[in-house]
Amino acid sequence: MLLGMGGVKAVAPAATPAETVIDPVHSALAQLRLAETLAANLNRLQRALAAASASEFQLHQMARLQLRLDRRADALITYRRMLTLHPGHAEARHMVAVLAGEVPEKANEAYVAALFDAFADSFDEKLVDWLDYRAPQHVAAATRAALDKSPGVARGIDLGCGTGLLAPELRGLVKRLDGIDLSPKMVDKARARRLYDELTVGEIVSELQKRPHVYELVAAADVLSYFGDLRALFEAVRGSLPDGGLFVATVEKGSGARYQAGKTGRYQHGEAYLRKRAAEAGFVVLSFDEIELRKEENKPVLGYVFALRAQETPESQAAALSVMPLDDLLAGLDMPHAGVVVAAAQRMIGNGFAVGWAIDLGGCLARHAGDLRQLSQHLDMVAEDSARSRRAFETGLYDDCDSGAVIHFLEDRPDHYDLIMAADPAVTQADAAIFFSAVKIALAAAGVFVGVFNGDAGVLSETAKAEGLFVLAVEPLLDGSGFCLIAES
Ligand SMILES: C[S@@+](CC[C@H](N)C(=O)[O-])C[C@H]1O[C@@H](n2cnc3c(N)ncnc32)[C@H](O)[C@@H]1O
Repeated sequence: MLLGMGGVKAVAPAATPAETVIDPVHSALAQLRLAETLAANLNRLQRALAAASASEFQLHQMARLQLRLDRRADALITYRRMLTLHPGHAEARHMVAVLAGEVPEKANEAYVAALFDAFADSFDEKLVDWLDYRAPQHVAAATRAALDKSPGVARGIDLGCGTGLLAPELRGLVKRLDGIDLSPKMVDKARARRLYDELTVGEIVSELQKRPHVYELVAAADVLSYFGDLRALFEAVRGSLPDGGLFVATVEKGSGARYQAGKTGRYQHGEAYLRKRAAEAGFVVLSFDEIELRKEENKPVLGYVFALRAQETPESQAAALSVMPLDDLLAGLDMPHAGVVVAAAQRMIGNGFAVGWAIDLGGCLARHAGDLRQLSQHLDMVAEDSARSRRAFETGLYDDCDSGAVIHFLEDRPDHYDLIMAADPAVTQADAAIFFSAVKIALAAAGVFVGVFNGDAGVLSETAKAEGLFVLAVEPLLDGSGFCLIAES
């Protein structure tokens, strides 16, 4: 919150904020004068309140003055009085918890919205002109540096966009820019900039949860200071990014492996805490730097700016696959000679006939699942690569999708399959004798095997025979890359 931000305008004016020079003597005198004025105001207010019953407005003023004078115990009493008058008062609820040392997990939404609604008209002037606010520039610089090492981003979102100070910095980096903020009045200011494609008044975590894999860039300038525990936020950001997406944000610098809440009601986060939460949510750290966020009562407020890249995880892959169109799923499973294998299987089983159990080793035949369904009542797949199995599972075209060593899978299912197919030479290639032996074990009586191989057709067909298979045909592939071997148990 900005209770503690009301400071003294930077004493030495400068051409750019980065060049601001503060004269320490002048600044100390200004601070002193400010403290004296605040104390005088507080005294006046206290006298007025002693004479008449306090209004919510007066108590509010008094609590804020007490905080600015760092009289935290007095401020706690005043906020408690406010709660007695108005038990639902959002700021009082938050500040009572913070000042009593409870450190709530985040600032409540009503409080944040009211605070920034009240602040919207003066936000840009106070932050930029008075407080030398630099968070958007730090986010933009870290984003540009991260993008140098990443493919371009198309869609970005500015979390807690406020009046839109980050938009001019990001607009040139993304094709589409969205923004979310709890404060309708801040969003109105952002809208007036005409730099966002879509602006939403809403809460960041719940909004992001509705937008899986929508953005390649998620940015947040000076917003995480309204969150203590960052677990839900980091998870929501991760969910809104595809693998490889970027999350760039600033925080106020805290200490240790936790987060703290200061007299301003804002939160600070320690580096160890941030790195832990980032790793847990599935991010790798691309950069992590200490920065000066702004001035507060003419003293620099230190922070961190970090850029994180969304890592591929089993969960992220599953989530990405679950929203992928069927055609894209199939394209990722296809193999050049899948059609040859299916055509051979059709010839072997015969028109109008069907077997009980079939399996696709490697999961390359999903595009032909319709034809294979005519040939078998039950269609399984297995692949060493678990990502491939997940993708096959998401097509919904197989009865069972497994991942693991194909050889062990077959050896564990003696006499089980009437039709075994393999369109990927990588599946059949490892050790031909072990492979054919496993196929022989898994094939039911009179079962059929069809597979694509590279290498020496003569040697392979001899190996198949040595493992007890009857080789029925060895057909060269049209592109000359190998052959299709058809055998029976
Ligand atoms: C200090 S301002 C920063 C605004 C802007 N990012 C900038 O750099 O100018 C923090 C903003 O975050 C918004 N905010 C804080 N918590 C939020 C939440 N949980 N959901 C949406 N907006 C939030 C506030 O309403 C406020 O506009």
